Amino acid sequence: TEAAKEQEDKTEAAKDDAAAGGAGALIGVAMPTKDLQRWNQDGSNMKAELEAAGYAVDLQYASNDVQTQVSQIENMISNGCQMLVIASIDGSSLGEPLSQAKEAGIPVISYDRLIMNTKAIDYYVSFDNYTVGVLQGQYVIDTLGLDLNDTSKTYNIEFTAGDPADNNAPFFFNGAFDTLKPYIDAGILNIVSGQTAFEEVATATWDTATAMNRMQNILASYYSDGTQLDVALCSNDSTALGVTQAIESDYAGSNQPIITGQDGDEANLKNIVDSKQSMTVYKAVANEAVVTLALAQAILNGEQPGEELTSQFDCECAYDTSSYDNNTGIIPSYLLTPTVVTADNIQEELVDTGYYTMGGDGYPVAVG
Ligand code: BGC
Repeated sequence: TEAAKEQEDKTEAAKDDAAAGGAGALIGVAMPTKDLQRWNQDGSNMKAELEAAGYAVDLQYASNDVQTQVSQIENMISNGCQMLVIASIDGSSLGEPLSQAKEAGIPVISYDRLIMNTKAIDYYVSFDNYTVGVLQGQYVIDTLGLDLNDTSKTYNIEFTAGDPADNNAPFFFNGAFDTLKPYIDAGILNIVSGQTAFEEVATATWDTATAMNRMQNILASYYSDGTQLDVALCSNDSTALGVTQAIESDYAGSNQPIITGQDGDEANLKNIVDSKQSMTVYKAVANEAVVTLALAQAILNGEQPGEELTSQFDCECAYDTSSYDNNTGIIPSYLLTPTVVTADNIQEELVDTGYYTMGGDGYPVAVG
């Protein structure tokens, strides 16, 4: 049977691992929330990969509540875990439990989001977060055909960024803003609300309703007189969803603004198919799990992985020792490469690659 085969595979993997050392270790995996499609996939991918390699896994979700995550990590430590893989809710609030981890000699991998202000972090695995923003900004430039030598056509843009407690959020925002800044400075792109600083455009906990309310306020205050909104630059899909809802219900204009996103959430891919969202930056989180597994194995085998680890991956992955400083020094990072997905390449990038299937209704459905 399939179950028996699976068990056999697991046993084989466990044997391989026993030969390599570190077999059977308990690994604590702390994820922020089940609310977002991606973290469910991250959690289940990590659990499946680690168990198949013979490890025991304690996987926890914290409902975006910092104190819950702190308790979960403390429990993992007191239950004797030998490694922690953590996607933090608030990157600066884990100092206390992680100093316990450091004292106990438990290695910590910061997963997707960099954990700040603690010496306990050994490695960081993520996508190139700044590039995510650059891809969004470049998409706007290409789609509008912006040209610094032609200031005759001007466009209106509003930014929506992520959670200030998430170290990724400023990276996404800065990548997009830096890319568009020459056009803003030239007066080709106008931020009509005047809300240009990260703090002004941020969205606590990346919440869809919060992003929607803010955009509704902006539309009422600055666009109700018929001013045209051309671009809503949103850092990710959960915020793009709220912004799209606000535009659908409260925007007076008849054009469809360009709306960017990130993640490839099913609801957003549906909006892309229906021309309500323009693009999403897709990050194959399945590969993030593959990289994290290889890294975890190497660490538990007593190695000090570096650049050479990247040669064993099928996917593009850079070893970076300059970009991510968590205020205690540079954290060595493995950074995967994000991809732009639009209505034109959903089939090629998401379905042909096996990450999604195409539903009978013409909308992509995530696999796994
Ligand atoms: C992740 C994004 C995600 C966002 C909200 C970020 O840290 O990198 O993929 O959209 O958090 O959960």
